[in-house]
Amino acid sequence: MLNYKTFEEDIKKARELGKPCKIMVASEEEAATIVTWQEINDFLNSGQVDFPRVRLANSSNAEMLGYRGFLETRLTKSGYNLGRVRKKAFLDKIIRGSSIIIDRCMDYFPNTRTINDFAESALLGKASSNLYCSWSNSSSFGWHFDGHDVIAIQIQGSKKWSFKEPTFEYPTNSDKSFLMEVPQQETCFELRIEPGEAVYVPKGYWHVVETLTENSVHLTVGINKARNLDVLSIIEQELRRHAFFRMDLPDKISPEYVINFKEQLMASINEIDLDQAISRAKFESCLDLADAKINLPNLY
Ligand SMILES: [Fe+2]
Repeated sequence: MLNYKTFEEDIKKARELGKPCKIMVASEEEAATIVTWQEINDFLNSGQVDFPRVRLANSSNAEMLGYRGFLETRLTKSGYNLGRVRKKAFLDKIIRGSSIIIDRCMDYFPNTRTINDFAESALLGKASSNLYCSWSNSSSFGWHFDGHDVIAIQIQGSKKWSFKEPTFEYPTNSDKSFLMEVPQQETCFELRIEPGEAVYVPKGYWHVVETLTENSVHLTVGINKARNLDVLSIIEQELRRHAFFRMDLPDKISPEYVINFKEQLMASINEIDLDQAISRAKFESCLDLADAKINLPNLY
């Protein structure tokens, strides 16, 4: 379906470039088969829709993100909370400018699972994919940045992506752009993305996306690779072995206590094999990747 060999090479080149760029991934016909409207309709009509995994977003109406009125949920005898989409409420919100977002769509649409797992193996990072369906009058988010790298593959219709340079470099998923001020700087560049093309967006780049055609479907694959911060959690695990760090903090903190704390910390960190800690952080971040999945009856 996708030309995985060139896709992998192009993503790696884009990562090295460190700037948003366009990548060709498939022909228009091939892109249309990644997820079809029929599959999306079948899923939405399945009666097994979950909120907020499936949600509506509208940048001019922030409350839409918490809106669950389009779903009629019922608890099954086995305790599952299943939802049936209320057609009128759902379509009414879309007509008024909302987009549909399906989080972790790779669990529902097999081709998106293939792409998601490929991205994990190629980039050695945890991937998660979301599907966005939008109409020409809709804008799901205003200016924002993401705390992970994104590869957005256009499946149907066209979108315009506009970018501004990062103002907070290498954000994590806990650094929320909606709590920060959108920079006043001019848009640094724009890309028009057609079916079969993808845009690579490094974490931290401000972006806004507009639908240029009557409707649009695109798949975003978010990639989370191990960071230097992950080494700190390995260091923390090592520090837990020392009785000093397990002690209660004193009620009153004296200057001597602070000096002693610093000495204990430095001495303990000096004892840690950092080479091993970094390798462990990298290894642990890959444990859940697609390659590491259970493959019974093979036990090894
Ligand atoms: Fe985004």
